[in-house]
Amino acid sequence: MKAARFAGRVGLAALALAALASGARAQDSASVASPDGRNVVTVLTRGGGLYYDVTRERHTILLPSRLGFVFRGGDSLATALRITGVTRDSADVTWTQPWGEVARVRDHHNELRVAVAEDRPPGRRFTVVFRAFDDGIGFRYELSDSSGLGDFEMMQEVTEFVMADNAKAWWIPANVPAPDRQENLYSESPVSRLDTVNVPLTMQTADGFDVVIHEADLEDYAGMYLAGDGLRTLRVVLPRWHDGVAVRGRAPFVTPWRTIQLADRVEDLAPSLLGLKLNPPSRIDDTSWIHPMKYDGIWWAMHIGLLTWSEGPRHGATTQRAEQYLDFAAANGLGGTLVEGWNLGWDGDWFHEGGIHFSFTQAYPDYDLAGVAAYARSKGLTLIAHDETASNITNFDRQIDSAFTLYERLGIRAVKTGYVGDTTDQGDAHQSQPMVRHQRHVIEEAARHHLMLDAHEPIRDTGERRTWPNMMAREGARGQEYNAWGGDGGNPPEHTTILFFTRMLEGPMDFTPGIFDILIQRPTGHPRTPEQPRPRTTLAKQLALYVVLYSPLQMAADLPENYEGQPAFQFIRDVAVDWDTTRVIAGRIGDYVIVARRQRDRPTWFLGAITDEQARSFDVPLTFLDPGRRYVADIYADGPGANWRDNPLAIAITHRAVTSRSTLHIAMAPGGGAAVRIHPAEGAER
Ligand code: NOJ
Ligand code: CA
Repeated sequence: MKAARFAGRVGLAALALAALASGARAQDSASVASPDGRNVVTVLTRGGGLYYDVTRERHTILLPSRLGFVFRGGDSLATALRITGVTRDSADVTWTQPWGEVARVRDHHNELRVAVAEDRPPGRRFTVVFRAFDDGIGFRYELSDSSGLGDFEMMQEVTEFVMADNAKAWWIPANVPAPDRQENLYSESPVSRLDTVNVPLTMQTADGFDVVIHEADLEDYAGMYLAGDGLRTLRVVLPRWHDGVAVRGRAPFVTPWRTIQLADRVEDLAPSLLGLKLNPPSRIDDTSWIHPMKYDGIWWAMHIGLLTWSEGPRHGATTQRAEQYLDFAAANGLGGTLVEGWNLGWDGDWFHEGGIHFSFTQAYPDYDLAGVAAYARSKGLTLIAHDETASNITNFDRQIDSAFTLYERLGIRAVKTGYVGDTTDQGDAHQSQPMVRHQRHVIEEAARHHLMLDAHEPIRDTGERRTWPNMMAREGARGQEYNAWGGDGGNPPEHTTILFFTRMLEGPMDFTPGIFDILIQRPTGHPRTPEQPRPRTTLAKQLALYVVLYSPLQMAADLPENYEGQPAFQFIRDVAVDWDTTRVIAGRIGDYVIVARRQRDRPTWFLGAITDEQARSFDVPLTFLDPGRRYVADIYADGPGANWRDNPLAIAITHRAVTSRSTLHIAMAPGGGAAVRIHPAEGAER
């Protein structure tokens, strides 16, 4: 479908306005509006610079913001520019994701391609492609064969986002050039106070708009950061190779999309689907081997210091323990078991030695890899192999083919990678182009060997799971592990209420919820004090996180013995990991979130509610249920007197008949939450 009809009409009106506003001649600017007409982006030249601005409902979101590049030697492609032509297009395509927070995704947009040329020798050319969606704007640069660029070394992308309002932002630092694993606590401050921050960057403007700047389809480029200028301008900053170059490439070349998600209510930010719409369709034809699942693992025991990754009397990854965990998974409907510390290389100081001894094929003598993998297969489960690289990507790349070939031969269907380490072994930063290339290569190698991937210390999610649906989950934020050993006593109660509106807008996160021994009391016999790290939540909130923090791989992170005899564990058995529909019922960044999701291909709904350190109550009308149908709600709520600090384990489990006309009263304790399963009363339809 061509867009001339619609985009043409709105575009011309906006174009005339833009021309007036900027004093530019009409041919020096062009606009495109979203299908609903509410979001408009206008491109213009001014004094030889190329700019774009963004409005929503005629409120200016971004003031004219610069576009362009600087190449090696200070060679700028950002001045003496003119627009040489514009073309338009549009699309309206809907597809089904193999898995996700929603089943169906609709990409409905109007496109404007702006061809630009340098008005002086050497007369280089590039194109900026803008897409206007009802939920935001995406744009990228295209450098064609005839751009005159050939091989290039880019030092800087000049792209700016000039906020019209000194909006409130929720941010984590970018840590350039230090290790950037994105494992920080969020801060809140106006844009004018931002130094260099990570994306997605979520902001709220004074006139009530929600704005999220992120990127999509990061394939062979550096991951982007944003640097404030003390006013309201955010500039793209690209982490560099060890020699100072940001991006190496050769035309034809496209950059990642820069995305500006827009909403009127914070609840409308999630699920965020712009990234999926701006990635190419799946390159895996047969996705029947890709299955969302829950898993347990030899993992938390190491983080709380009970067992070790390395060899010795407390070695965690023994054949016997792995089989116990697999038995537990099989008995409780989980799909597999993660085993960490199974492979040679953990002894000594692997971190400071840069992971040079890690083997990804050879197991410790007390771990029979082939035997355990066969045991898993015999129960219809999979092992999740663990490859901690310490960011020594040379060592991993050297072994990846033999390792993944071995795992596939053993029937292993999932791999968890890890990139603890300050830089790669080559000295390149975490979100730098070499690391982006490496981690994309790992996704492709995993796909070739039918392996699902869970990446820790990852490249941020930019929607590539559309193209590579084996890219399941990743970390890329402060997860549960910080509640075992992190500073500041672990993650504060508000942390997950911020994650939902920031990190989770990228895509799924392997947060690893489900710690039941919240006081970390059982192994040592000494409950931790509130100042020592431990989950600062109630038990009901640990359950709610399965619904709130979306992941197609959800861990039951505690030790199996801590689930024994616990009625609350039934929720983890029941909770789905693949969704047809997601509805955010209520939320406020840093305060609370209530989300309802319908299980894929089932009439069952799950509701998760979490609060920060404040107790809160809500009445949730169940209008999302099918009218006329009778359901039962299994409610896991904070028990009497519950609070994260000194009574985290009090939980009240009740069952109630409900219909679409019922209202659920949800009362959350300080640091608490609620988890609810709502299933049809007719038993057959579980
Ligand atoms: C950090 C990861 O986030 C964690 O899950 C893993 O257990 C350790 N690295 C060891 O690889
Ligand atoms: Ca980590």
